Amino acid sequence: MSDNIILSVKDLSVSYKEKNIIENINLDIEKGKVYSIIGPNGCGKTTLIRTMSRSIRPKSGCVELNNNDIFKLKTKNVAKKMAVLSQNNMTMSEISVKTLVQYGRFAHKEWWMGSSSEDNEIVEWAIEKTALVDYKDRKINTLSGGERQRAWIAMSIAQKPEILLLDEPTTYLDISHQLEILELISRLNKEEKITILMVLHDINHAARYSDELIVIKDKHVYTKGNPWKVLESNVLRDVFRVDAQISKDKETNKPIFYAKKVI
Ligand SMILES: Nc1ncnc2c1ncn2[C@@H]1O[C@H](COP(=O)(O)OP(=O)(O)OP(=O)(O)O)[C@@H](O)[C@H]1O
Ligand SMILES: [Mg+2]
Repeated sequence: MSDNIILSVKDLSVSYKEKNIIENINLDIEKGKVYSIIGPNGCGKTTLIRTMSRSIRPKSGCVELNNNDIFKLKTKNVAKKMAVLSQNNMTMSEISVKTLVQYGRFAHKEWWMGSSSEDNEIVEWAIEKTALVDYKDRKINTLSGGERQRAWIAMSIAQKPEILLLDEPTTYLDISHQLEILELISRLNKEEKITILMVLHDINHAARYSDELIVIKDKHVYTKGNPWKVLESNVLRDVFRVDAQISKDKETNKPIFYAKKVI
């Protein structure tokens, strides 16, 4: 038990019917840091993040949010601390950006209550933080992919969470919109002190924007740690089956890798 750990996974195993997807995973997520989970398609990243956000019950082991068993907490009490952006969030397309962001406040009030001035202030703050002021009356289905992703992030931060879980937040975005979303996530971490746990496929983005990487392979955590510790050529060979060359980005001092060929 430690005060600087916001989310902790202990001996976690998850299965769908008889098939084990995750076996005996242990993880501690420290407050204020940015973590990225990386690993090949189908290795269980979404399953892990969905279990950590209490959408899937584990076969064994536990998930603790601020030292409390997450499966014993009420949905609302989890939502006050944790916001989750899932891999496919294409629904609710007919509503406006502002209405979507207002949904983020639901965790903080009872169904019979209207919006308080504090709710309205937080909604405006979330819209400003995500640079959506000019878009707030637009319907979600009229936005570009990057704008839509910003709207979902605005809804998530309107929850005023301590931790934000994002499953592939940059999928389907072009490179400039990918960077825009990652810069936004990075700002939310630095300025609002929101702990970030995300799944990313782009290893260079994961290395650049994360304090810690968590590599999943064959149902287990293959390795974890800072990007320099994790991104060794043998890890890239064993986990992703590529022959990789690693160098240092002079601006960020982070590792960048270039995949030369599939092994
Ligand atoms: N509801 C389900 N029922 C049965 N099997 C499932 C279910 N959801 C996922 N799986 C299986 O569990 C494994 C892990 O899936 P998961 O979605 O967690 O992988 P992932 O690492 O997120 O993959 P990707 O990188 O493609 O998003 C896969 O083999 C998948 O087919
Ligand atoms: Mg996934």
